[in-house]
Amino acid sequence: MRGKKALLIVLMVLLTVLLLLKGMQGEKRQQIADFEEKVVIAHRGACGYLPEHTLESYAVAFALGANYIEPDLVMTKDGVLICLHDMHLERTTDVEEVFPDRHRSDDRWYAADFTLDEIKMLKAHERCDSDGNPCFPDRFPSNFSEFEIPTFAEMIELIRGLNKSTGRSVGIYPELKHPSWHAKEGLPMENALLDTLGKYGYRGPDAKVYIQCFDPESLKKLRFKFRTELPLLQLIGAEGDRVLDENELDEVATYANGIGPDKELVEREPELVSMAHERGLLVHSWTFRADELPERYSDFEEELFQFYFVYGVDGVFTDFPDRAVSLLAKKE
Ligand code: G3P
Ligand code: CA
Repeated sequence: MRGKKALLIVLMVLLTVLLLLKGMQGEKRQQIADFEEKVVIAHRGACGYLPEHTLESYAVAFALGANYIEPDLVMTKDGVLICLHDMHLERTTDVEEVFPDRHRSDDRWYAADFTLDEIKMLKAHERCDSDGNPCFPDRFPSNFSEFEIPTFAEMIELIRGLNKSTGRSVGIYPELKHPSWHAKEGLPMENALLDTLGKYGYRGPDAKVYIQCFDPESLKKLRFKFRTELPLLQLIGAEGDRVLDENELDEVATYANGIGPDKELVEREPELVSMAHERGLLVHSWTFRADELPERYSDFEEELFQFYFVYGVDGVFTDFPDRAVSLLAKKE
């Protein structure tokens, strides 16, 4: 009798182990299926065609078929998240003409020194360098600009509205810019971001949103202090000779769902992609520009193909979302 009981226990243990293994295989398959779904992230909207971070640029990116649309976020003096890449205003707006005296001692105009009402008095235009020349001369002309700086809430309302009217499900991909600098200015960003996302129904791990940031402390705050379950992505620059080691990726996997490496990092170390995948981390690389093509590629599609299908990244941030959408459609 005792022998039968022992056999039963052994069988139950074996069955449990088999079920666990089967479950793990299912999980692994699910992970791989997710990795196979390549995405196009419209960088600053469709900024290859219209001034970056304008509602018009986001709407065109939506129409061109992007899966996600990226707003970079900074904060106004009165605590409103607005869509802007720089913490300064003079490279992409007419702030020098509208508020000539409102710069700091470094001769820069900080968005954090202006209320939303003041920000709304500015006209946004194509990005210019410090001499006022367009950074991308073949893009939208900067002297025909009547564009506004949108708030994050306005951006979300646009994408949600278009999702409803088209029946699509395009995601958003907000980036917190300089959160520790903002916190020192008395403008903490993380809570405001989660409040805005929550207000519009972005909650839980399946929400159609990724929150991205270069600052790991800000992402950890979102995950551990504010306990968000939303997908998080750790951006990684390519400064110096930096190469990510396994321990660093292990650490990122404790709080993030993916990494966003500068494409130079992937070129330098293509195995970064499989190292990330082994840890359950997606890889979304940046920034792909048809009008800033590295010499090693003969055309933009060749560069996109190399990253999607040779290096195996899961998504790219691009100023020309239509070109990546069309490349992926041809591969289907
Ligand atoms: O967020 C991905 C990529 O956009 C990071 O670079 O400077 O264009 O925000 P940046
Ligand atoms: Ca960005």
